[in-house]
Amino acid sequence: MRTEVAIIGAGPAGLLLSHLLADQGIDSILIETRSQQYVLSRIRAGILAHSTVELLDAIGLGTRLHAEGQEHRGIYLQWPQERHHIDFVDLVGRSVWVYGQTEVTKDLVSARETAGQAMFYEVSDTALHDVDTEAPYVTFTDSSGAAVRIDAAVIAGCDGSFGPSRAAMPESVRQTWERTYPYSWLGVLADVAPSTDELIYAWHPDGFAMHSMRSPKVSRLYLQVPNGTDVGTWSDDRIWDALAERLGHGQDGWSLERGPITDKSVLPMRSYVQTPMRHGRLFLAGDAAHIVPPTGAKGLNLAVADVALLAPALAALLRKGEERLADSYSEDALRRVWRCTHFSWWMTTMLHTSADPFGAQLQLSQLRWVASSEAGAMGLAENYAGLPIGF
Ligand code: FAD
Ligand code: DHB
Repeated sequence: MRTEVAIIGAGPAGLLLSHLLADQGIDSILIETRSQQYVLSRIRAGILAHSTVELLDAIGLGTRLHAEGQEHRGIYLQWPQERHHIDFVDLVGRSVWVYGQTEVTKDLVSARETAGQAMFYEVSDTALHDVDTEAPYVTFTDSSGAAVRIDAAVIAGCDGSFGPSRAAMPESVRQTWERTYPYSWLGVLADVAPSTDELIYAWHPDGFAMHSMRSPKVSRLYLQVPNGTDVGTWSDDRIWDALAERLGHGQDGWSLERGPITDKSVLPMRSYVQTPMRHGRLFLAGDAAHIVPPTGAKGLNLAVADVALLAPALAALLRKGEERLADSYSEDALRRVWRCTHFSWWMTTMLHTSADPFGAQLQLSQLRWVASSEAGAMGLAENYAGLPIGF
């Protein structure tokens, strides 16, 4: 089998890349280990930065987002007895949208299906070959057990943090940077109307908590928990009690509404960057090249920003034989990757607590500065709402 771009991974990065390439008349084949049902139902990120929304609008995929998503002007930043609104629109003229990654994925899958995109789900044994030649290829076993080989001009590694693409970069060229954090998030989805109009990020001596949402009837909430936490030790009542305490139930007349919890999971936190993001005919995009802790809501948005650079670079390479954008892809993408890596680390370390009284005072001082100084608030707003594509 032959195509121009073999795309490994049908998450947001791979699906969006196939869409943008098709707009330029470039063929691709997508291969994915999971079933389509699994890809469409996994619960992940929830916030789209301004640049992500602009891109989805520009390619005609913003209709359901605007009809069913919720536009937010900013976020609340909170610590005991204080809640402050950081208004991104006033500060930097950009809003964000609440629209689950699940919904973005549904829109992309449906657009790709309508366009007749070639996709293989439930593949195994994915392997990349000859990436430093002009004739790379991918091999895998398809869902019927048949061995398949796809020859391509380019391989796009969009296979997230567990895929084989990042390790297909030769050891002699690749470099990695990593930080693990001494805490995880317990995330829950609940069938209850959100108790807030915009997201609340709360510092609390018991640990960070966040109130997010998916729709006017569904709330998404997170609690800082120690690494290695077993979800089974958190009953629904224990979760609601901890959320109520950390989010300030009863303060200034605010109350947290409870409802049935429909999903519970523990997410470890990690910062990770692998460079370069291109070697020969292999290009990495999204979580395949970098992971950020979720506190800055950047993971999905970074994946989209990578692909927004990669698609025109591949179009220039494959249609006009121009190497310039392909040659600068890694450097161009990494500027934003490191900005988002820093922002995500900064939000994470400012809001998650540990047994360090000195550190806690520094965090509170930082939070007060961000909430009371226009310069402080603007830094958060500019990074959270998202730097323009091409930053
Ligand atoms: P992915 O979405 O991971 O897609 C990669 C795809 O490649 C997957 O479908 C995978 O099945 C496939 N794949 C893997 N191996 C192979 C193989 N060998 N062959 C073929 N296909 C393969 N971000 C936030 O901002 N907020 C959140 O709350 C949040 N929650 C998250 C929860 C979890 C459990 C995870 C894993 C991530 C979360 N993220 C969150 C991060 C965000 O979801 C990612 O940054 C985003 O999904 C990146 O998109 P991607 O397409 O690069 O990677
Ligand atoms: C959500 C996740 C995040 O990591 C974040 O910073 C904000 C919102 C969410 O799942 O809604």
